[in-house]
Amino acid sequence: MTVTQPPLSHPDAWWRDAVFYQIYPRSFADANGDGMGDLSGIIDKVPYLESLGIDAVWLSPFYPSPGVDAGYDVANYFDIAPEFGTLDQADQLIAALHQAGIKVVIDLVPNHTSSEHEWFRQALEAGPGSPERERYHFRYSDDGMPNNWGSLFGGSAWASVHELTGKEEDRHWYYLHLFAPEQPDVNWDHPDVHEHFEQFLRFWCVRGIDGFRVDVAHALVKAPGLPDDDVGPDRWQVLDPDEEVEKQPDSGPAFNQPGVHEIYRHWRAVLNDYGEDKLLVAEAWVEPASELANYVRSDEMSQAFNFPFLKAGWDAQAMRHVIDETMEANAAVGAPTTWVLSNHDVVRHATRFGYPCGTDIERGIGPDDPQPDEELGLRRARAATLFMLALPGSVYLYQGEELGLPEHTTVPPEARQDPSWFRTDGVVRGRDGCRIPLPWSAQGPAYGFNETGQSWLPQPADWGRFAPEQQDDSASTLLMYRAALALRARLSLGRGELQWVEAPDGVLAFDNGEHRIILNVTDEEQSIPATGSVIMTSWAGVVSDQDADPCRWDTDTVTVPANGCVWIEK
Ligand code: NOJ
Repeated sequence: MTVTQPPLSHPDAWWRDAVFYQIYPRSFADANGDGMGDLSGIIDKVPYLESLGIDAVWLSPFYPSPGVDAGYDVANYFDIAPEFGTLDQADQLIAALHQAGIKVVIDLVPNHTSSEHEWFRQALEAGPGSPERERYHFRYSDDGMPNNWGSLFGGSAWASVHELTGKEEDRHWYYLHLFAPEQPDVNWDHPDVHEHFEQFLRFWCVRGIDGFRVDVAHALVKAPGLPDDDVGPDRWQVLDPDEEVEKQPDSGPAFNQPGVHEIYRHWRAVLNDYGEDKLLVAEAWVEPASELANYVRSDEMSQAFNFPFLKAGWDAQAMRHVIDETMEANAAVGAPTTWVLSNHDVVRHATRFGYPCGTDIERGIGPDDPQPDEELGLRRARAATLFMLALPGSVYLYQGEELGLPEHTTVPPEARQDPSWFRTDGVVRGRDGCRIPLPWSAQGPAYGFNETGQSWLPQPADWGRFAPEQQDDSASTLLMYRAALALRARLSLGRGELQWVEAPDGVLAFDNGEHRIILNVTDEEQSIPATGSVIMTSWAGVVSDQDADPCRWDTDTVTVPANGCVWIEK
């Protein structure tokens, strides 16, 4: 069966098959030694980024912020946080990346501001019923919370205004926050909100930004009247594996309302003032795929993250199902599909795959939890990555995965920073383990993250073994990524088509043009019909003409080892 991509609405767009690399600025590289990464640190590493062979970077938020949710609580959308640098340095970084042929995508956080944003301060100051409060969702209720919504970080989605201001007039007033109380949701029925984010797009386009990753893109518009939902106030608990009713945390009247699409159509028109190829990518946890595809219709966003692929697990059937479903849904609206295995919100895939398939680790991992099989996890992660890189469409990588970095699974409770840890009394371990500052050298202070040894999250003791300087043999994870990215580009795999090939249970095989890709998701070696020569493997990296073939062949059958992936030139 062939899953065709065309006709695409934007067949020539640069992002159609681009490989994006997510930089989480606070954990990438720290030039000033304060324990928090910064823009100068990223500038220093542009040659490294160039050597990876990526097409674009996506920078997680770098705006002034109290940092309650690691920068996703923005206090000023038109500046750079002092701990990260200055607007001048942002300009330098954009120029340096462009010079290296790398596009720059930044994070846009439109669902909520920080409670330190001037709008929210003005709203608190101005009091009940004031126009200033109209920019957020303030509600009066003398009978408990205004509705039953829960925060995605735990607890109610409503916070008491009276507790903040201490003013009598604020008694029984609440404001809405789908995330932390320090992240009040803005009211997208208010013209100022529309105006503000349009200005944001224009401000950063003028500075040369090539696109925007839109945070919680499915939550901006709420159902009129904010009716109760059927998830209830313990929204985070729906992830409880023992819960009998399957519910989606991101469902109900706070999510995926039809009105969001009007916003994105308008943004598309605004961005078209700066050229037709500005990227908008949706972070939208929306199912099914056909519903998510509405975000990437030709006059809305360019792409949406393919989270079902990330969540499919080490399960051949589930992966194939997601690939078919998402490619078909996107093809129906003329959009290319994206692929992703890791980001700053989920357990790193080198660790996820180190657990038996189906193990529930969505809440994160702590020192008292069962620990993964690290070797198996990495072997499978490399195979999954190689498989993903051969799929048509575009790919999102997360900093450190090219080093084979696992999750830090034993972050001590006293070092935890994620608000979900605090708001659930530690039941949700949180996302700190995937956000640990990178190791740039085998030894030395903070493994080369900086020169002082400070680090906003603790690095594990053996972090240095993942440093780039430790990975100079061709079988290393870093060199596998580099070689695979180079080949992917040379062979135009991202612009190809996928044609499934029959394979035994637990094996996925497809042709993309002149190449056959085989992924063995089982724990035993598997033989699959194929002819030609192996050009890449997930265990030995690139295979050159002089190398002996790393696979066993029996005339027209190739044997792929357990948890391995190969690329074959037919
Ligand atoms: C999604 C971001 O990726 C996550 O890190 C953040 O906590 C929430 N949105 C709230 O902004």
